[in-house]
Amino acid sequence: MILAFSGCQHLGQLKNLTNVALDPNGAPAQPAVLAEFENDPVVTSAGGWRDRRVPILRETFQRDLYGYFPDESEIVVGDVQLLDDNAYGGLATIELVPLTIRTRFGEGEWVERTIRLALAKPKAATKPSPVILKMSFCPFNETFRHDGLPNGQAEIVLPERTGKTNVSCVIKGFSPLERLQSYALGRYHVSPPIKEMIERGYAYAEINVLDYIVDASNLGSLQLELLSRGHNEDTSWGALAAWASQFSRAVDYLDTDEELDAERTAIYGHSRYAKAALVAGAFDDRIDAVIAHQSGRGGAALTRSVVGEPTSEMTATYHDWFSTAYTKRTQNSKELPFDQHQLIALLAPRPVLLGNARRDKWSDPNGAFRAAQGANPAYELFGSEGLTTERLNEFDPDADIAFWIRPGTHGEVKEDWSAFLEFLDAHF
Ligand code: GCU
Repeated sequence: MILAFSGCQHLGQLKNLTNVALDPNGAPAQPAVLAEFENDPVVTSAGGWRDRRVPILRETFQRDLYGYFPDESEIVVGDVQLLDDNAYGGLATIELVPLTIRTRFGEGEWVERTIRLALAKPKAATKPSPVILKMSFCPFNETFRHDGLPNGQAEIVLPERTGKTNVSCVIKGFSPLERLQSYALGRYHVSPPIKEMIERGYAYAEINVLDYIVDASNLGSLQLELLSRGHNEDTSWGALAAWASQFSRAVDYLDTDEELDAERTAIYGHSRYAKAALVAGAFDDRIDAVIAHQSGRGGAALTRSVVGEPTSEMTATYHDWFSTAYTKRTQNSKELPFDQHQLIALLAPRPVLLGNARRDKWSDPNGAFRAAQGANPAYELFGSEGLTTERLNEFDPDADIAFWIRPGTHGEVKEDWSAFLEFLDAHF
């Protein structure tokens, strides 16, 4: 048995529990999002943004931060199993979908991995349902609270060994570690309100977290290496891009399901998976809305911001999340010629919610707010107002860049999901 899951709590995070200010403070996002960039002249139209700037920014984020996505990628759908046709008090069906992801970098060989997707669909739907796709810290049998789902234990294949790995989020005792885990994730991360989503007309899908890349620096790096033969050390992808690609491969499948509305696919992630969700949305236009909760550094928060998690510390601890090139150069990260508002701008004009908590200074809510402000001109090109508010605590679920902050710390609580669903109701 290989035990693999990197801790989500960091000492720095626990030391940063003071309330953040609710007025934006600090330097505005640089460079201005529509300004000349890498020899591309100022952007003045939605067409210019789409045709010229988007490809340049996608190349920049791959080359300098997340590493490159595979050149080719496809799925082979296995036998879909109906696990329950009467779940959640008779309101939903639950299906288990095996997806074999095939990827290829350059002229390298094709590499395959099979992941599992669990999918709950409302039975009362009279037309295709919008769907919320989540990637979570927890195995899917725990988040779905359904005995029919297999244990989320996964096989891992490494260059010289194979093994099984598992993780649990369910609090089975009250050891200090378990209390810390529950405190860190919040109860609603372990059990999101699936029944309420179904009642409100949403389908809910979840990727079993361990099936593709294990979130543990050394093992994760080895797996990434296996999955990206054909790329050299400087160009190969990190786990965030691999998770983002996994979101996209799940969307390949969801978009073919006739009971789901391919025009209303939302993806959701918390913390490191929120970083991945933003990357997925930025690179995949079929994703119709993104909820990125507490994504922090490497996600929505500006890298140049001096508050919260230092970039160098993040890449030292989680070097597998990024490209090797970025991990190497993080000591100089303040000099990178781009910043995370340009990642948010890649979502324009699609709706995005940036979730935050007041005592989660580690994730730098203020840096995320300034990034949202910095992304706005790209939204305006499409006739959207983008972020409509001026303070961090003025939640506007109708806005295309909705900024949400609540009291408390890092994790997912009931109010978060009320805000997320209000936001999706407003846009879908
Ligand atoms: C650590 C890490 C953060 C990350 C978080 C999480 O705290 O420093 O960057 O967002 O884990 O994924 O919970």
